Amino acid sequence: MAKKDLISVVDMKAEWPALVDLAIKLKKERGHHGDPLKGKTLAMMFEKPSTRTRTSFDIAITELGGHALYLDVSKMQMGHGETVEDTARVLSRFAHGIMYRAFDYKMMDKLGEWATIPVISGLDNLEHPCQALADIVTVKEKFGECRGRKLVYLGDGNNVCNSLLYACAIMGIDMVACCPATRMPNAEIMMKAADIARENGSKIIASHEPQEACKDADVLYTDTWISMGDTTSEAEAIKIFQKYQINDDLLSIASPDCIVMHCLPAHRGQEITNSVIEGKHSVVFDQAENRLHAQKAVLYTLLKD
Ligand code: CP
Ligand code: NVA
Repeated sequence: MAKKDLISVVDMKAEWPALVDLAIKLKKERGHHGDPLKGKTLAMMFEKPSTRTRTSFDIAITELGGHALYLDVSKMQMGHGETVEDTARVLSRFAHGIMYRAFDYKMMDKLGEWATIPVISGLDNLEHPCQALADIVTVKEKFGECRGRKLVYLGDGNNVCNSLLYACAIMGIDMVACCPATRMPNAEIMMKAADIARENGSKIIASHEPQEACKDADVLYTDTWISMGDTTSEAEAIKIFQKYQINDDLLSIASPDCIVMHCLPAHRGQEITNSVIEGKHSVVFDQAENRLHAQKAVLYTLLKD
């Protein structure tokens, strides 16, 4: 059987709803998994810092009976001139899966092309699919059903936003990408997500007006205004994004049982205020915890014999 990757959410479009349910099931069964991934090793290559992705993948595979190996790319030969093609083929002889956090999605794609074992994205400049899975798990947990809910993403149309567009479209969630005109999500992803949403009876909408977009929202979502590798200065970012900040004013426009999400790390006082992230609508730490359960669902599905 051909190996499968999770580099873009759409790589596992057909399996996505089952992945969400599996993550919820594995969350309930924590501590009673047996060892379904006994003897399996996940090689984790990082070009950028990480708290959640690194820790949750390591603990997820350990709790499923396997083992994780942390590889700092700057200390690998790939960080000193060895090609990604050779790295992919060598790691494929040692490990059973590769998780990669990359600056450039082209390197991610090349790793997927040359590896003969599953490649899972731990974020690149285009997508963050495992984050989107944990996000959908959180929405489903909080509301019971995803279909028909309205999620408004505010701020930078970045990797997190791109993956959420696909994930919401697959789950029948209406998603508004409310971003400055100069910082909209990837245009091709917006179009493809809109097509998927149409098939599922939901909508993908672009907006530049937070006050309008947040009306009746079930979920307000934001992420950092300056992603890793982005050279925008803090002063510039504040100028571009200030009106997209999630604060009490914007929250008051949303549905009364609205939840507030952030993939973390957060910058209080920038994309979200302290009172909102610490307030009763915030589910950010449940969302962070769900990274663990989501990673387990991905690892089990891709690495189990
Ligand atoms: N949300 C997320 O991916 O966090 P880390 O950068 O800590 O992995
Ligand atoms: N958009 C952020 C997400 C961090 C988890 C970044 O790429 O830095």
